[in-house]
Amino acid sequence: MKVNITETVLRDANQSLIATRMPFEDFEPVLEKIDEAGYASIECWGGATFDSCLRYLSEDPWERLRKIKSKVKKTKLQMLLRGQNILGYKHYPDDVVRKFVEYAIKNGMDIIRIFDALNDFRNIRVAVEETIKWGGHAQGAICYTISPIHDLESYAKMGKTLEEMGVNSICIKDMAGIMGPKEAYDIFKALKETVKVPLILHTHSTTGLGPMTYLKAIEAGCSGIDTAISSFSGGTSQPSTETMNYALKQLGYETGLKEDVLKEINDFFKSVKEKFLKTGVLNPYVMGTETDALVYQIPGGMLSNLISQLKQQNALDRLEEVLQETPRVRKDLGYPPLVTPMSQMVGVQAAINVLTGERYKSVTNEIKAYLRGEYGKAPGEIDPDLVKKVLGDEKPITTRFADTLEPAFEKTKKELGSLAQSDEDVLSYIAFPQIAEKFFKEREDRKSKTVSYSIRKV
Ligand code: CO
Repeated sequence: MKVNITETVLRDANQSLIATRMPFEDFEPVLEKIDEAGYASIECWGGATFDSCLRYLSEDPWERLRKIKSKVKKTKLQMLLRGQNILGYKHYPDDVVRKFVEYAIKNGMDIIRIFDALNDFRNIRVAVEETIKWGGHAQGAICYTISPIHDLESYAKMGKTLEEMGVNSICIKDMAGIMGPKEAYDIFKALKETVKVPLILHTHSTTGLGPMTYLKAIEAGCSGIDTAISSFSGGTSQPSTETMNYALKQLGYETGLKEDVLKEINDFFKSVKEKFLKTGVLNPYVMGTETDALVYQIPGGMLSNLISQLKQQNALDRLEEVLQETPRVRKDLGYPPLVTPMSQMVGVQAAINVLTGERYKSVTNEIKAYLRGEYGKAPGEIDPDLVKKVLGDEKPITTRFADTLEPAFEKTKKELGSLAQSDEDVLSYIAFPQIAEKFFKEREDRKSKTVSYSIRKV
């Protein structure tokens, strides 16, 4: 049996270990080598890479994609897309989502993994349709979470909905690394019995469960996993590519990976890692195993956010109370998966509830928008008393929030005029207006100084 391996060093490992600060020049020399290794795909774009390119690296994310494509000719390129949120945190109108997907594929993207933080699949349908329309591979993702309403039946049902939507494969996305081997086995078994499309598992090494969880998922029918080359693996990143490859081959699975090439890729990234350790961008702490997430059943990143938030308010002694309030807030909100931005929203509200001494005395704007239905449909029932207390007589919307948004692409293009040099620029601007504008100006300055390096569009 073949197990497909997706290498994450350029995206998720880069994002999880060094806050997506790896510039293109750092990995350019190794791209052809990566193309030779036999990976099923290379996750290299989307997620936070887009924002980080514009905000910190003064790089055009679209140009980065074209440059990667020019060196990686055989292996499929993969990206992560937040459904109707594209790469940001708010909902965009459909025309913007469609254009974004169209240009991602035109610039070289092959596989688009699409998810919605609430698993409200109305918010990924447009991106899925458009990916298929332009000849891309649409991978529907289900955010994994633990709650009294998330059982095997509900995951199987979500898989069915995605398959009916026409996705080419389904990924279970365990962003917190809290899925255990038994849960993995049971979920993949249930999905395998329900759907026909290939099943993929994405997890993180945060709690140390990762490699065990991968093996049991594969036993139950999972045919693809995400791993990171060893120097960028472990901790908040993915389990190591070489380790999983070694174990899988020993158990009789094929991976298609070439060990000697993996060794060369890893030797290359060792020095990149060394650089980030020296500059302090890579904090050795994130490479360790952190099991508190298993005790509190909340993602490690959410726990560290809560701690720093309470520290700022000189209230670290209230942490235990906040940790007890967190699951109650989550229940009131209908058990949203604790993925960005819900993890932050739930954590902040729990802290407010504890520190003000009265639950929901003060409610954040994000929670208000959530209660209005602007993020989508909650997985479970939202506490009706809470809705009444916060919204009064205002009725939450039950339709798709994006249906209420006016088309924005052509209008923005007109407004930007010559500031945008391409439709891709318009999309960068719509996603991150201020930082894109700042980037366009930096790019102009550079152009007048040097002859720019550009690659013909594919
Ligand atoms: Co991830």
